Amino acid sequence: MSRRAFSDMAVNPPRFRVRALTGAGGCVVEGVRLHGGLSTDMVDALNSALLSCKVLFFRDQQHLDSDEQERVAALFGVPFTHPNALGNSGAAMLILSSDTFSETDNKHPRNDVWHVDGAYLDAYPKIAVLQAVVVPPFGDTLWANTATAYRRLAEPLRRLADRLWVRHSNAPCLAPPDARTAAAAARFEALHPMVIVHPETRERSLLLGNLAQRIDGLSARESAVLIDLFQSHIERPEHVIRWSWREGDVAIWDARSSQNFTVDDYGEQERLMRRVLVKGEAPIGVDGRRSVAVY
Ligand code: SIN
Repeated sequence: MSRRAFSDMAVNPPRFRVRALTGAGGCVVEGVRLHGGLSTDMVDALNSALLSCKVLFFRDQQHLDSDEQERVAALFGVPFTHPNALGNSGAAMLILSSDTFSETDNKHPRNDVWHVDGAYLDAYPKIAVLQAVVVPPFGDTLWANTATAYRRLAEPLRRLADRLWVRHSNAPCLAPPDARTAAAAARFEALHPMVIVHPETRERSLLLGNLAQRIDGLSARESAVLIDLFQSHIERPEHVIRWSWREGDVAIWDARSSQNFTVDDYGEQERLMRRVLVKGEAPIGVDGRRSVAVY
């Protein structure tokens, strides 16, 4: 796929065009007005583009309200309700605002950490649909392509990663305990393979991010050194896609082969995004074993 030219995606009968943003992935889609009634052919074609691009960007989707955005997410699976979603609009919609972000996640209120949403669950959300509602001049979002990162590991490191299992916990998201959150916010932990096999493409990718706390069977120090080694490889610039938002833009990403990070360079200016996640299944490692919930 060329960076400059749009390529036609012939769908039967609809057509749309995609243009690659970087060598790491990320594609701009032209010619699609998102709504919950898109045809199965169109959804299949968008899903294929998503599997290869990892992140799809759609400009000028101002017509979507939050209900319609949720219906768009439902085209890709079952919308996911966050187990600790206090104070949000209920259901699957999460409002990510520079003012409030969320009631429980006030340690990294601006998501300026590399993360995979909900990876503390064994069956963590597979896809996210994010719309920009209020956009400051800055405040871009970055994604890292974790499949490319896996492929570009030196072979001995790939073999090592293939055999490691990692505990992911929501501890980094929990507010310091107070009377209200201590009662309401539950702890979640899952044990995931460090290398997961994509259920649709069979492509391997690295599953880490800020919720990855400890490698099974290793000491805290050994875990920290290895997590840092693999995570810093994921974050290398050649694996990263960057998007500058305009109001109405929608990004859809595959959380089985990406991590994301919000650049917190917009100061006190308002930034408001709406996000719906889509339920995933427990990932499978290269040995065929599935992720498990720890508690
Ligand atoms: C997210 O991490 O899901 C939100 C990304 C953003 O607001 O930039």
